[in-house]
Amino acid sequence: MTPRTIKVTVNGVEYEKTIEPRLTLADFLRHELSLPGTHVGCEHGVCGACTVLWNGRTVRSCIMLAVQADGSELTTVEGLSRDGELNPIQQAFVEEHGLQCGFCTPGFLMTVTELLEFHPDPTDEQIMDYLGGQICRCTGYQSILAAVRSAIEKRKAV
Ligand code: FES
Ligand code: FES
Repeated sequence: MTPRTIKVTVNGVEYEKTIEPRLTLADFLRHELSLPGTHVGCEHGVCGACTVLWNGRTVRSCIMLAVQADGSELTTVEGLSRDGELNPIQQAFVEEHGLQCGFCTPGFLMTVTELLEFHPDPTDEQIMDYLGGQICRCTGYQSILAAVRSAIEKRKAV
């Protein structure tokens, strides 16, 4: 296939790259842009580890082609902190032990980012609805729920 040149803005930085049309967005971020925070688990859209924000909404970057992101804005987990400071959602995950091995964590963080952007004070049902698509094999989810609730309070206090 003929390589295609795409332009994207990722975490506020503009990139122009010539890539194979079959390259997934996850592999593009990890290997072309050297942003390995987006993890790849199942590679078929089930586990949520590869979740990133595409124009502000979550997508599974393992089942999206990089060429589909041409002209768009993306945020990965590397874009959440500011000047080396964890944001309130990240801080809450640390404080509430919302991670163990950390493999699923980037996906959870991006999903919670979208949740709180569109529902700053979500009901438990909304939280469950958003997190239902993310798989964690370590935590048993209770500490993740505690982290989300803590993040909500932290954001209210800012
Ligand atoms: S790696 Fe993309 S959903 Fe599992
Ligand atoms: S912390 Fe290990 S998979 Fe979630």
